[in-house]
Amino acid sequence: MMTVTQCTKTIMRALNGETLPTPPVWMMRQAGRYLPEYMATRAQAGDFLSLCYNPDLATEVTLQPIRRYGFDAAILFADILLVPQALGADLWFVTGEGPRLSTITTEQDMGKLGPAEDIHETLAPIYQTVRNLTSALPAETTLIGFAGAPWTVATYMIAGRGTPDQAPAHALMRENVVVFDALMDRITKATILYLAEQIKAGAEVVKIFDSWAGSLSAQAFDRYCIAPHIEIVTVLKAQFPDVKIIGFPRGAAGKYIDYTVQVDVDCVAVDTAVSSAWAAENLQPKTCVQGNLDQTLLVSGGDKLVSETKRVVEAFKGGAHIFNLGHGITPDAPPENVSLMLEAIRG
Ligand code: CP3
Repeated sequence: MMTVTQCTKTIMRALNGETLPTPPVWMMRQAGRYLPEYMATRAQAGDFLSLCYNPDLATEVTLQPIRRYGFDAAILFADILLVPQALGADLWFVTGEGPRLSTITTEQDMGKLGPAEDIHETLAPIYQTVRNLTSALPAETTLIGFAGAPWTVATYMIAGRGTPDQAPAHALMRENVVVFDALMDRITKATILYLAEQIKAGAEVVKIFDSWAGSLSAQAFDRYCIAPHIEIVTVLKAQFPDVKIIGFPRGAAGKYIDYTVQVDVDCVAVDTAVSSAWAAENLQPKTCVQGNLDQTLLVSGGDKLVSETKRVVEAFKGGAHIFNLGHGITPDAPPENVSLMLEAIRG
C-alpha cells in the first residue's frame, strides 16, 4: 500500500502551489531592531557586521522571532551587502545612517575586485549559520536563505551607500556601460555561487531581493532585473531541482506581470504599491504570491492593522499565498502589534 506523506511545512506547501485555509506567514526583517532580544544580542556581538559573521549569535537572532511568534519560516540572518565585501569592497555601517562601501565606477575599481569564485572564504561563517539552523529550527519551520539581486547590490557598490533614486548607478549605466555590465556580471556570478552554497548547507528556499527594481525604466528592467534573475534561477534550478525560489522585484508595478511570466520563480513577493486585489487577479493564477500588508500598520497598530490584515488574507484566499509585509518591519514597531497581526491571520 502506498502511503502519502504530506509535507508539514506550510511554506513549502504554498510554494508547491497549494491553496491553504490559513496562509503561512513570516515577515521581512523579522529579526531586527524592533525586538529587545535582538538589541541585546547585537550588543553582545559588538556591531551589526560582527553579528552577521558570528554563526552562534546569527543563529540566535534568526531563532528569536520564531520563538516569540512561531512564524512559519525563518530567514537566515545576514545582509545583501556581504557579497560586495566578499568580492573585495570595503564595507562598514554608520549607526543610524546605514551602509557605506568603497565605490566602483571605473575599470580600475573593477580591477580591485576579486573573482566570484573567491567569495567563499569570507562567507564561510554564513554557511555555518545555515547549517546550525537546519538542526536548531522546529520541524515545521522552513529555512529561507537569500541574496540581493545584481541591480540592487550594484546600486550600493556604485554609490558607496544607499541612495533615494539610485542616480549614481543610472549614471554609470549611461556613461560607462562596459564597466556597469562587468559589475553586473560579477555580482550575478557571485550571487549564484553564494546561493548554491546556502542551498548545500540546508536552505530550502532562497529569496532574491531586488529592492530597487522600481527605479529601472521598462527597458532597463528587462535587461537588468528580469535577465539576471532568469540566469540565477535557471542555474540554481538545474543544479538543485527541489529548491524553491522567491523573487522580489520591489516597486515593479505593472512589470510584475512580465517578471512573473518570464522568471521561473515559485513565488513572487509584492510590495504595497500594487493592491492585493490586483496581485491576486494578475499574478496569483501564475504563481504563489507573497505579501503585502503595509508595514507601517505595524507601527500604528489598532483596528486598522486588524482589518487590513484580514483584507490581505481575504484578497489572496483563492490561491497559493504566503502572508508577509510589503517591505521590512521598522525599528519603531511595537512587538505586540506583530502578535495582533498574527491573531488576525490565524484566528
Ligand atoms: O530578518 C531578516 O529579514 C533577515 C536579515 C536581513 C537583513 N538585511 C538584516 C539587517 C535581510 C534579509 C536583509 C536584506 C537587505 N539588506 C536588503 C534587502 C531588503 C530591503 O530591505 O529592501 C537591503 C537593501 C539591505 C542593505 C541594508 N542593510 C541597509 C540599507 C541597511 C541599513 C538600513 C536599515 O534598514 O537598517 C542594512 C542594515 C540591516 N540589515 C539591519 C538588519 C537587521 C539593521 C542593522 C542594525 O542592527 O543596526
